[in-house]
Amino acid sequence: DDTKAGVKGLLDAGATSIPAIFHHPPDSLPQQETDASSTTVDAHAAVPVIDLRAAPREEVVGLVRAAAETAGFFQVVNHGVPGEVMAAALAAVRGFNEEPVEAKRPYYTRDTAARKVRFYSNLDLFQSPAACWRDTIFCDMAPEPPTPEEMPEPLRSVMFEYTDAVRKLAVWMFELLSESLGLASDHLSKMGCGESLKVAGNYYPPCPEPHLTLGNTRHTDPTFLTVLLQDGVGGLQVLLDRGGGQRGWVDVPPVPGALIINVGDLLQLVSNSRFRSVEHRVLANKGTGAARVSVAAFVDVGRSMRRYGPIQEIVTPPGGGNPPIYRSVTVEEFIAHFYRKGSERRPRLD
Ligand code: SIN
Ligand code: FE2
Repeated sequence: DDTKAGVKGLLDAGATSIPAIFHHPPDSLPQQETDASSTTVDAHAAVPVIDLRAAPREEVVGLVRAAAETAGFFQVVNHGVPGEVMAAALAAVRGFNEEPVEAKRPYYTRDTAARKVRFYSNLDLFQSPAACWRDTIFCDMAPEPPTPEEMPEPLRSVMFEYTDAVRKLAVWMFELLSESLGLASDHLSKMGCGESLKVAGNYYPPCPEPHLTLGNTRHTDPTFLTVLLQDGVGGLQVLLDRGGGQRGWVDVPPVPGALIINVGDLLQLVSNSRFRSVEHRVLANKGTGAARVSVAAFVDVGRSMRRYGPIQEIVTPPGGGNPPIYRSVTVEEFIAHFYRKGSERRPRLD
């Protein structure tokens, strides 16, 4: 029952060390990694900041293509989501999480079908080697949004506004990504790639023993595209290929006013692996003061029986130069595959 108070509840109860369930295996902790050391690469070069209104458009398309093909992560500015709405969304997620436990309890559930707005900590606890230092308020926003009454009061006015703005940005990103693949601007939208939108409001309380745990373990996003808003605390890292079999964790630094865009597994699939769904993680919040807050919008295909496979226009018949490397799947099959490989949370597009 204690889990209903979340990780924040542990801190509020006065924890000065973290319970053993939060201890991650040594080889997945930053200090002791063997396969990937934290690096001094220039973060801005590795994960570029792209001005979406820079002219000419072909240049923007080229920058988006290059980033989607390599890091799979980039940041965007001049993206059309108003700064006040971004600030209000972060404040609302913080506000909800900092409400008294009694106010959060009605939203607590581990059942994803129970309701459209759900508060939980470590949903994958029973499939994971260890718990993460994070609480989450999760909202299913499209195609069927919650009613205002179903939305917790601190999030009520801004969550709908933020979602509308992010959906417009997603359509814009689909245009740029379609053009990057040499397709008509509306190709990805017409495939229904933005039908679904779910928002995770993440709250990472300061951690008394940040060297023993993580805010989020390494994973790729099992969706089409993610639009991520982070506050100024930092801690998000992406696993980059540095050539010669070398990989390293690179910080995605907070850039005021920017939104992070990252390629999800399904975009990797339809692009026939031209665009990369890259592993990332969040370090436990080392600060002693404020919690870190992020708002992740998962843009995805609807749960139709439609099949998704490598886009025909960009592949060649088997035997040609770019044959399809994935078979086409329904969303149901894709999700089943995701849960089969669930505990590892490693790239699942084999
Ligand atoms: C995530 O990748 O799921 C969360 C990213 C973040 O909080 O920055
Ligand atoms: Fe993620």
